[in-house]
Amino acid sequence: MKIAVVEGDGIGKEVIPVAVKVLEHYVPDAEYLEVEVGYGKWEKTGRGCDEGDIETMREADAVIFGAITTPPDPNYKSVMLKIRHDLGLYANIRPVRGNGFKITVVRENSEGLYSGIEDIGSERSTTLRVVTREASERIAVCACDILKRDFEGGTLTIGNKANVMKSDVLFRDTCMKVAESMGIPYRTAYIDSLTFDALQNPGRYDVIVTTNMFGDILSDALGHVAGGLGMLPSANIGADNSLFEPVHGSAPDIAGRGIANPVAAIRSAGMLLEHVAGIGCEQEIEMAISGAVSSGAGTPDLGGNSGTELFGKEILKRLEKR
Ligand code: NAI
Ligand code: MG
Repeated sequence: MKIAVVEGDGIGKEVIPVAVKVLEHYVPDAEYLEVEVGYGKWEKTGRGCDEGDIETMREADAVIFGAITTPPDPNYKSVMLKIRHDLGLYANIRPVRGNGFKITVVRENSEGLYSGIEDIGSERSTTLRVVTREASERIAVCACDILKRDFEGGTLTIGNKANVMKSDVLFRDTCMKVAESMGIPYRTAYIDSLTFDALQNPGRYDVIVTTNMFGDILSDALGHVAGGLGMLPSANIGADNSLFEPVHGSAPDIAGRGIANPVAAIRSAGMLLEHVAGIGCEQEIEMAISGAVSSGAGTPDLGGNSGTELFGKEILKRLEKR
């Protein structure tokens, strides 16, 4: 198995080495291909990512990805959007675990407000919000499959803003049709009140499917009931490729201090192992994380005083004992 490793910038360089140790524990024979993309590369070469990097990621069986810092360049095009586009990663799956609940946010990852179709001027700037039936169907099927697999007896929530944006009528109605045809119970909800309710009553939700930017914002907001941004992993899935990354960014405010929480990156590694190698390690990894946290080995964001490395070692030690 070949795994492309992109540490990226900031705390990506601190949390990804811990995630790689978890990968090495489960698949010791895997080959790791290091790829440099991001702000660091842009400073050196004027480009955040080149075609060779994309090729390496494409050839690998999966990518583990840290985070990249957006360079202060008005003409800079998002490297993350390019990677998701070039690798065809249409589904962004973001599980949120908290006290007695699990919600999986399934975010459409290829269009919506992150279409990249923009016309930027000094007086008027526009970004085109694109919703297609094809992409809406594809993401709805993905969300229904996850509900069937992981949430027996659960309900699909279709997050939208069809009351204001007519482009969301197509999204909402397409999701409803898919859920009906797959026999999945569903409800629809406006994304603003849905976000408030999910924060108040997370236990009411199972799988939430929504468009690109709403899913981005909703999943960060849910970090509030999941112990913080350092806890949220994600999978970017396509027909031929997959990339696994924390939901958080490069956190320049704490980068370089060795205190970033590696859990999001470790959980992302767990999702990689499950998706690409069929290794059902989720429970084991969760036990190791909660064991390490209860022993007091958490990072400062979790109320502990360990650094990234020590917390990572405590988690790994527990995995190795099992
Ligand atoms: P951020 O997620 O990097 O940080 C937000 C806050 O959460 C900060 O206070 C940070 O210290 C804290 N935090 C995040 N991850 C943490 C962890 N593992 N442990 C402890 N605390 C953690 O978001 P921000 O500050 O808006 O963005 C910083 C940079 O990251 C920007 O350049 C942004 O464009 C980029 N970014 C990149 C992403 C990617 O590569 N996929 C995703 C999101 C942002
Ligand atoms: Mg985000």
